[in-house]
This record gives sequence, C-alpha cells and structure tokens, in this order.
Amino acid sequence: MVDSASFSHRITEASIIKRSRIILALDITDRSDLNEFALRTISQLESYICAIKLNFHLILPLSSSELSEVNRLVHSYDLQSIADIKLNDIPSTNKIAISHLSSMGFDAITVNPFIGTTGLRAVVVQAHELKSGILALVYMSHIGAQGGFGINYLGSNNQVTSLYQKFFQDAIASRVDGVIVGANRLEILKEISCKRDHIPIYSPGVGVQGGNIKQAANSGTDYFIIGRSIIGSKDPLKTAKTLQHQLVRVNITD
Ligand code: XMP
Repeated sequence: MVDSASFSHRITEASIIKRSRIILALDITDRSDLNEFALRTISQLESYICAIKLNFHLILPLSSSELSEVNRLVHSYDLQSIADIKLNDIPSTNKIAISHLSSMGFDAITVNPFIGTTGLRAVVVQAHELKSGILALVYMSHIGAQGGFGINYLGSNNQVTSLYQKFFQDAIASRVDGVIVGANRLEILKEISCKRDHIPIYSPGVGVQGGNIKQAANSGTDYFIIGRSIIGSKDPLKTAKTLQHQLVRVNITD
C-alpha cells in the first residue's frame, strides 16, 4: 500500500484487497495480556477486515510503544488503524492529540463536530498534512443519542434544524474523510446517504446495539465498525468470516 496516499484512498484499497468493509473494534476487556491478545486477534482476523479501531480500552492502558507495535502489525497486513477518541477540545489541545496519535501510526481519528467549523477545519488540515484522516460523528448509535444529536434548534434563518444535520453540513464543509452514523439509525442513514456526495459513511451499532448489517448496508453504510459481536463471540474467526460474506452477498444481490 502506498503510504503517501490519503487515508480515504488507503482504506478503500484495504477494503478491496481484503474484500471486506468491516472495521474491527478491538474493545478488549478483563485481561492482563491486552497487548499480546490484541496482536493475536489482529493476526487471526486480518483476512476478514479492512481496518481496526482502537478505543480507550487499549489507548489508555497501553504504552505508546505498544500502540505503535499494534499499528505496525496492522500495516503489515495492509490494514488501516483508527483511534476512536471522539476528539472535542480547543484547537491547541486537538493539535497535540493528533500529533501524538499520528506518530504512533494511527491512520485516522474520530472527532466530535461540537468543536464547530473552525475547529473541525483545523483538525482536517493538520490530519491531511500528516496523511491521516478525520471521521466526524453525525449521529451516534447508543440509546439516548437522540437527546444530543437529535436536538432541534431554531437557526439564524428562522428554520428548525436538528443538531445532526448541522454536524453533517459542517463535516462536509470541512472536508472530513468520513461521517459516522449508527447502523441502528436507518432513517438517518438514508437521509445522510442521499446528501453525502462521495463521503463514506462509517457505522457502529451492528449486533449488540441492535443494528442489522444488511439493512444498514442497504440504507447507505459503507464501513461497519463491529466489536463485541465478533470479539465476544465463541468463535471470532467464524463470526468475522460470516459477517464479511454477508456483506459481499449484499453487494452482489442488492
Ligand atoms: P460494539 O461492541 O457495539 O462496538 O460493536 C462499537 C464500538 O464503536 C464505538 N461506538 C461508536 N463510535 N460513534 C463512534 O465514533 C458512535 O456512534 C459509536 N457507537 C459505538 C464503541 O465505543 C465501540 O468501540
């Protein structure tokens, strides 16, 4: 894979090479051998995924050299690595976070558009200079997301808008590399997929959070972020393989 290509290009290539649109959420808990287990799981599942996503489960307990080791292994399999920290701070702090994560080998970072368009544009510009990507939340998958992302407000044009619609517009205007909408939010997925131009949609929320992979694929999801349904299953390899095959079938038949 060409390192000088953009994140969007690299993840597209990874998904073609692996014939997979699954991003493995490596949310490992209750183990003392987090690093070894993470490395083993990546090696076991690499053929059925296009990327991994690390959250605080590993980003907080692992050292920067351990995280770099994880990302080196990820890249050796032609996969991409996403840091899911939902960045949401003042520009100088965001800058430090992006700089550290990029130096550890992360290819993309999730960001909360609540920082506003100026903040969002600044993280995109910095990330792109480092050949990293920015994925912006638009509508989260968890119960209660409506109380934040679904809030309506009266805009300066006297029109009622939902916060997620504003987040989506800001994300597009800031040239992010992808937007995140829960796989269990089918109506929102359909609405966003009609307006998104070429921006890919990343969806967590399959399985444990109630989302159906086929329905979400048909509603516009490009990449599926899946954690517990794979990691917590009796046979993670078989589960990842089954999910990957399901998506290939969706591509062919629908
Ligand atoms: P599960 O086990 O539910 O894991 O498949 C999902 C992973 O994704 C994270 N998550 C989100 N990340 N926007 C995000 O950026 C969301 O709406 C969202 N919902 C879940 C979750 O923390 C876990 O790592």
